[in-house]
Amino acid sequence: MRSAKDFFAPLAVGAPLPVREVPARPSRMIHFFDPSNEKMAAKIPALVGTVDVLLGNLEDAVKADNKEAARAGLVAIAKATDFGDATQLWTRVNSLDSPWVLDDVVTLVTEIGDKLDVIMVPKVQGPEDIHYVDRLLAQLEARAGLTRPILVHAILETARGVANVEQIAAASPRMQGISLGPADLAADRRMKTTRVGGGHPGYLVRQDPPVGVEDAINADRVVYQQDLWHYTIARMVDACALNGIFPYYGPFGDIKDVVACEDQFRNAFLLGCVGAWSLHPVQIAIAKKVFSPSAADVAHARRVKAAMGDGTGAVMLDGKMEDDASLKQCLVILALAEQLSA
Ligand code: GLV
Ligand code: MG
Repeated sequence: MRSAKDFFAPLAVGAPLPVREVPARPSRMIHFFDPSNEKMAAKIPALVGTVDVLLGNLEDAVKADNKEAARAGLVAIAKATDFGDATQLWTRVNSLDSPWVLDDVVTLVTEIGDKLDVIMVPKVQGPEDIHYVDRLLAQLEARAGLTRPILVHAILETARGVANVEQIAAASPRMQGISLGPADLAADRRMKTTRVGGGHPGYLVRQDPPVGVEDAINADRVVYQQDLWHYTIARMVDACALNGIFPYYGPFGDIKDVVACEDQFRNAFLLGCVGAWSLHPVQIAIAKKVFSPSAADVAHARRVKAAMGDGTGAVMLDGKMEDDASLKQCLVILALAEQLSA
């Protein structure tokens, strides 16, 4: 099993740090809050135990004038809160080319490193960014005498990051997962959208004109909107699966459109993602629903498992062929259901 221990052992002082494996329990929602916003911060204790991850955001969406207040606010919240076993504490620090990130990492690891599970690093361009954060964390953990390593999560939101996603996923034993960052990625790729995630009504395919119909071009033709994010999510999922870490869909900015949010989250779930960001409490329930296997899927998976006996060969169930490979898919569903109920 990969662990952070081997990677930073040369920098650790005294006894080697205990192993901390990538958490077995995937997080369905990473709930963002701005620690500089007092109203928002006051609601955090009530969310403990109801969300898988609380993430104190220091990067985009926090005004430049509030960066220090956000950092200090997160330290205060973390010190005052017992997060229990069901909720992890994460942070998103500022980007590695910003004037704030060094103080973010130094302050947070020094002050609340014992409470912090994962540091999310935005705009990761390649494995060298992860190596830098990894070494910095090792130094700070050793200095603070921390007994468990802090894990690292990368946001995939630049064209260069996407080109390097396999190396990013493999860059360190600290890697916990990767999220799609559709808003920054759209800008970096020069896409012509103006949204935070989700689809676009202009990105579609149209049914062919009916043959022999006069003025066929103007005939009623079915239109299918396409998923702008399919390619990147699929690539990210493969990179994560190769390295045993977790892939996530990122933000869905149209808070009112709960239906489209659920669709986008479900596409990501079906493609292999384990969770998504929630930017508003309404998205917590959506993520919980989408990223937990449904009772029907679990029941079907159990039926296939029972019917497949020793797991080899093929059987017919409801007119459909099941075999070793469909059983493996069912076992993925059952394992996830079990992890989430643990
Ligand atoms: C998230 O950070 C994004 O840019 O979508
Ligand atoms: Mg971004």
